[in-house]
Amino acid sequence: MKSIGVGVIGVGAIGRLHSENYATKVPGASLVGIADVNTAAANELASKLGVKTVYADYRQLLADPNVDAVVVATPPFLKKDITLAAAEKHKHVFCEKPMTLSLKEADEMISAVQRSGIKFQVGYQKRSDTSFMQARKAVETGEIGKIILARAHNRDPPTTVGGWSADPKKSGSVFLDTSSHDFDALRYLTGSEVTRIYADGNAMMYEELRKNGDYDTVVVDMRLANGAMAQVDACGYTPYGFDSRAELVGTEGGIIIGMGENSFTHIYKNGKTSNQRQEYWGTRWAQAYRDEMAAFVECIVKDGKPRATIQDGRAALEIGLAAWQSIKTERPVTLPLA
Ligand SMILES: NC(=O)c1ccc[n+]([C@@H]2O[C@H](COP(=O)([O-])OP(=O)(O)OC[C@H]3O[C@@H](n4cnc5c(N)ncnc54)[C@H](O)[C@@H]3O)[C@@H](O)[C@H]2O)c1
Repeated sequence: MKSIGVGVIGVGAIGRLHSENYATKVPGASLVGIADVNTAAANELASKLGVKTVYADYRQLLADPNVDAVVVATPPFLKKDITLAAAEKHKHVFCEKPMTLSLKEADEMISAVQRSGIKFQVGYQKRSDTSFMQARKAVETGEIGKIILARAHNRDPPTTVGGWSADPKKSGSVFLDTSSHDFDALRYLTGSEVTRIYADGNAMMYEELRKNGDYDTVVVDMRLANGAMAQVDACGYTPYGFDSRAELVGTEGGIIIGMGENSFTHIYKNGKTSNQRQEYWGTRWAQAYRDEMAAFVECIVKDGKPRATIQDGRAALEIGLAAWQSIKTERPVTLPLA
């Protein structure tokens, strides 16, 4: 069977990780090229991974006949144009979240993907994390009954804030860049859509975010179509490390997805957490990042359905945009957005 040739566009924090996975850990695929405007970073990674082809312009990568599929790991505001160009060249797309910044752009991407018939998977790796998959299965089989309450969060360690990720016009804000993971996770776990949302937040720790009208700490309350209540929070200054969990309460039981506990006692201190402290998101999701890529390759080879579809990407985007609207108007917002 022919190996799927994969090119990675954007080799920053997550693009490097995906490149490393494709170089050695994804069956049926090989890393055949890298494109990044930062050619020094691209060349350095390419030589480390034994990749011969490096481009400064992603369009050259898309024109490369050895490339069957691309991973788009650039800042969010660039993803629409890259996807449209990839669709035109009939290259399958794995697109990091958020897929783009507006519903109009998302719809343009959906049309282009449908027209060209390529596969398009969104980087919502929780759908490939074994603990989330196990929880989803328990919900599907009715093990915890009807879901009445759902929660999920992403909390990141203190960091240096700046560049595109501190500018909501380029990142889409904390709601698209961070919480969209949890909006997707709640849709995935509960199988239900968000119908109403109220968001609140503050920028207490990062002046750059405050200046740009974004937030480092947010709480989002939601109502789901099945009647359940749901909540997502995010915090960009978590002194004890990376922390992402989820919780479901159903009429017959509950599910808690934790951080890999050895005992029931947790003391949260930087560097001294008594349990399995997670340094950063890359270690927490290592298995999921690998398996989401294996699933992407399988869906190309077997003409299957991507784990997180382009419609899932649009749905998480819509919830994030509604949260932004809510926090700016200080009012609940009803979905779908008009
Ligand atoms: N799924 C996850 O858990 C996860 C984790 C981190 C980041 N992300 C997402 O991945 C995307 C990238 O995030 P990051 O933290 O890796 O960003 P980053 O800033 O570390 O890296 C972005 C890279 O894109 C390159 N780039 C910029 N413009 C380009 C262009 N026109 N062509 C090619 N390359 C270009 C930059 O030079 C840089 O190397 C974001 O959407 C982010 O939300 C997802």
